Amino acid sequence: MPSKKTSTENAGTVLSTIAGPSSGPPPGSKGPAALPSDLLKKIAGTASMSEQMPDNPAKPGEIGAAAYDPPVGNHVEPPHPAVTGSTVSERNASDKVGAGKSVPGNNATTESLDRVRVDSGGQVLTTNQGVPIADNQNSLKASLRGPTAMEDFILREKITHFDHERIPERVVHARGSAAHGYFECYKALTQLTRAAPFAEDGKRTPVFVRFSTVAGERGSTDTARDVRGFAVKFYTDEGNWDLVGNNIPIFFIQDAMKFPDLVHAVKPEPHFAMPQASSAHDTYWDFVSLMPESTHMLLWQMSDRAIPRSYRMMQGFGVHTFRLVNAAGESVFCKFHWTPLAGTHGLAWDEAVKISGADPDFHRRDLWEAIEAGAYPEWELGLQVFSEEQAEAFEFDVLDATKIVPEELVPIVPVGRLVLNRNPDNFFAETEQVAFCTAHIVPGIDFTNDPLLQGRIHSYLDTQISRLGGANFHEIPINAPIAQVHNNQRDGMHRQAIARGRVSYEPNSLGGGCPFQAGRMQGFTSVPEPIAGDKVRGKPEKFADHYSQARLFWQSQSPTEQKHIIKAFRFELTRVQTQAIRQRVVSLLANVDDELAQGVAQGLGFPVPPPAPNISPLPPHTYEPSPGLSMMSYPAPDIRTRRIAILVAPGTDGAMARALYGALVEAGAVPRLVGPMLGEIADDKGKPLHVEISVEAGPAALYDAVAIPNGSDATATLLKDGHVLEFIKDQYRHCKPILALGVASALLEKIGIPPALPDGEPDPGIVGLAGESLESATAAFISAIRQHKIFERETDPPLV
Ligand code: HEM
Repeated sequence: MPSKKTSTENAGTVLSTIAGPSSGPPPGSKGPAALPSDLLKKIAGTASMSEQMPDNPAKPGEIGAAAYDPPVGNHVEPPHPAVTGSTVSERNASDKVGAGKSVPGNNATTESLDRVRVDSGGQVLTTNQGVPIADNQNSLKASLRGPTAMEDFILREKITHFDHERIPERVVHARGSAAHGYFECYKALTQLTRAAPFAEDGKRTPVFVRFSTVAGERGSTDTARDVRGFAVKFYTDEGNWDLVGNNIPIFFIQDAMKFPDLVHAVKPEPHFAMPQASSAHDTYWDFVSLMPESTHMLLWQMSDRAIPRSYRMMQGFGVHTFRLVNAAGESVFCKFHWTPLAGTHGLAWDEAVKISGADPDFHRRDLWEAIEAGAYPEWELGLQVFSEEQAEAFEFDVLDATKIVPEELVPIVPVGRLVLNRNPDNFFAETEQVAFCTAHIVPGIDFTNDPLLQGRIHSYLDTQISRLGGANFHEIPINAPIAQVHNNQRDGMHRQAIARGRVSYEPNSLGGGCPFQAGRMQGFTSVPEPIAGDKVRGKPEKFADHYSQARLFWQSQSPTEQKHIIKAFRFELTRVQTQAIRQRVVSLLANVDDELAQGVAQGLGFPVPPPAPNISPLPPHTYEPSPGLSMMSYPAPDIRTRRIAILVAPGTDGAMARALYGALVEAGAVPRLVGPMLGEIADDKGKPLHVEISVEAGPAALYDAVAIPNGSDATATLLKDGHVLEFIKDQYRHCKPILALGVASALLEKIGIPPALPDGEPDPGIVGLAGESLESATAAFISAIRQHKIFERETDPPLV
């Protein structure tokens, strides 16, 4: 019986999902069933919330000058959790549906990765439906030698899933590796920006960082000559910010319109799908030689920056000019720079080619191993901050991605550090499925009108819809922000979030107005930039100066780096088949520097052609050389993580080998005993030494230096081994330090390695020949490794 105190008038409306009376109080009770009932509270609460919103007071804020200061959206507090729910039956708990207690305002899909981490220790195999599998060896057959039964749902599920394991690779940057870590801001930058990572002194923001090559396919080699991607996803408490940069601060083209052309030109040629992960072919050089704005980038691409020694030893750049915006809405321009603490180092081209064969995963392995070993890679973030007025006075346009802002014009100010301290659990789930996007910015960061950046804002989200199979890839755990996500986007393939309630639109009163717009103080607003002029396809005049900064880069390189650039052009253009293309490239270089053009032309066997037409209406600008553009300006502070081979054979001076090994470990390096074959060998005192890797499995290109301890028998054995001689020769040719102790010097003599540099000075990278003590030889060896390479040794062609 209904209670005497409460009315059941209109209870039928509570118990229905359609229509209701136009007036009259809500019932006090819905009758005998299920008291106390959330259904009453839900209906009464909904009516009350709706009544509190007789109109939409936010509307005037959309009009005219008021639109510059968007208000917070109209909303009211739901009087009871049931009011915003989909169903009052949500209180019926189960292991599947959850605790039966809704958490209003919470999106559980943004919780940490722990919520999806799976460990199968001690567990039996199951199907995807959780059914334990009794036999994982045999399919179900009609008799032991009979056909397989259609009903074998276990086999079919397993094979079906396997059949669909692959997803499309990224259209560019398909090959890459990634790690988790954090960004730590040194000091709050609230004067400059309200962006969350810079909000407080010492604030840490979790990050996921992916490094990549651009042109090669997912399975291509790591050490191809190419630009490297350097993409950082900041999981800030105000949403994800992706700084999707490269290891080179400029780009090939000035307008997004040309990106598909650039990529089609550099990718394997479409008729025969060759070459893999290489720009050394006709279509690439055909395109860039007809695009003089590429000239500056070509010089960077032909430098050793395009064959980095390690992801950990390369700089990163945001490339475009961005804006920083503070809480008062004031904005400045900004360029982002990452500088590695481990120094900025490259490989030799011959070394890169040999690594490609010996260990195509060289950079992936290097990053993984350093993090596993606790040698966490670290970069410092620097900002170049400048005003619009400053930018207008520059002789180049800050919206032109083929230009840098020289440090001499705007200094780089260090503001924080990036530390990578955790490898992913699963390559596919994290590294492959991560989706970076230049459109992911947070309050405090804004775009500029750089026409390359503007096109990128569209491209990433668009491509990821097909790469990751639909519109919901932001819910994939690695992509989900740690900030809460609340909006009215719904449905689509593979939707994971289960939104409570019936409201999926805004404005609303049935959900108390929620989720409501945040308004200017909390929400993202774009800098209101005045725009005037004709709607037009074209470029500003300053974009036409294609050579002044290319010359700045060239003149800022050390003589060694200049030689490497010439050699790289020679290599790439030699592989080109069409002579006119080679000549066009050199005609671009003739606008940059005579020695450069002559060096390249000479290597290709033709005279320097007339310079390509210079279309700039403005006079060229002369810059002072900028030392920061040379890789040599970023030496390593120590030899941590450097890989050192110690060549051993039966009869090696064991005490020496062990002391050397210990000293290198002490210095943070990674020594390995390398011998003709694996196994235990006896040292000169008959004590065991355990060879860790053979010269065959770990050839010279994989090490930063080699040491050969004393030992007559060992030297005699090594002298007879062609692999060993080749090993030492490559170490010399790749300008790496060689420590040869005692009679081991015979190996150097046999190969023809001189102890002096071509200019007659002693080679600082050939250590131990003077018979110095092991201690001082080791110290000299370590100091030579720290230099990275002994470039003074180089001759073209190589001496040995
Ligand atoms: C209009 C010019 C550009 C377009 C249209 C474009 C487009 C793309 C596309 C479609 C992807 C694959 C994304 C995915 O499947 O997840 C990609 C990846 C990438 N792009 Fe661009 N890109 C452009 C210019 C640039 C520039 C100038 C840079 C450097 C500043 C850059 C850096 C990267 C990086 C680092 C990745 C790899 C991200 C990752 O690690 O997953 N791109 N780009």
